[in-house]
Amino acid sequence: MIKKASFVISNNNPGKCPNPDRAEIAFIGRSNVGKSSLINMITGTRDLAKTSAKPGKTQLINHFMIDDRWYLVDLPGYGFAKVNKKVKDGWEAMISTYLTKRENLCGVFILIDSRLEPQGIDLEFLAWCGSEGVPSVLVFTKADKQSKAKTDLNVKAFLKKTKEIFEEEPDYFVTSAENTTGKAELVQFIEELVKE
Ligand code: GTP
Ligand code: MG
Repeated sequence: MIKKASFVISNNNPGKCPNPDRAEIAFIGRSNVGKSSLINMITGTRDLAKTSAKPGKTQLINHFMIDDRWYLVDLPGYGFAKVNKKVKDGWEAMISTYLTKRENLCGVFILIDSRLEPQGIDLEFLAWCGSEGVPSVLVFTKADKQSKAKTDLNVKAFLKKTKEIFEEEPDYFVTSAENTTGKAELVQFIEELVKE
């Protein structure tokens, strides 16, 4: 269980992140998929990470200190159409540098909207993570939005697609920030990861 969570710093330069002197995990995924909401859900806070109904809310690399021991990072989403190419290229460079160079990063949680059939943009991002050796875990979000049967169907279809990317099926979780589905399992997994 997470007992303490506080904001540390936001920045647009991966080189200016806090000293990599402790374990770190990050949340990434399409704009509006629920990254910031999931951070609030697992830390038991309301607005530690800023959320919005409009995509494109998180635009910087945001570090949070958890239990005085490890860093949790909220990242901007990919696939946000309403920004110009220069801004988009800037975000992509920032995120890819962060994900490939951050030496203390021990888990990258890739959030997938559980309401949707497998989306090309998520599979492309996942394939990039696979090719770069990014330690990837999947989190299917917004499970409260439809029946369990529908969620299961989408999760299964997505996992099938990942067989073309990873030799072993990636670890995955089904969550809802709305009703805390999956919270205990996800937190336990993360706490094991940052212990190592
Ligand atoms: P960006 O920062 O723009 O990339 O978005 P994000 O991925 O951080 O999404 P955010 O957490 O801001 O949530 C986007 C919208 O989805 C908000 O309106 C949230 O309230 C809603 N939302 C997030 N998670 C859930 C969930 O589990 N269930 C439901 N019903 N809504 C959710
Ligand atoms: Mg966000």
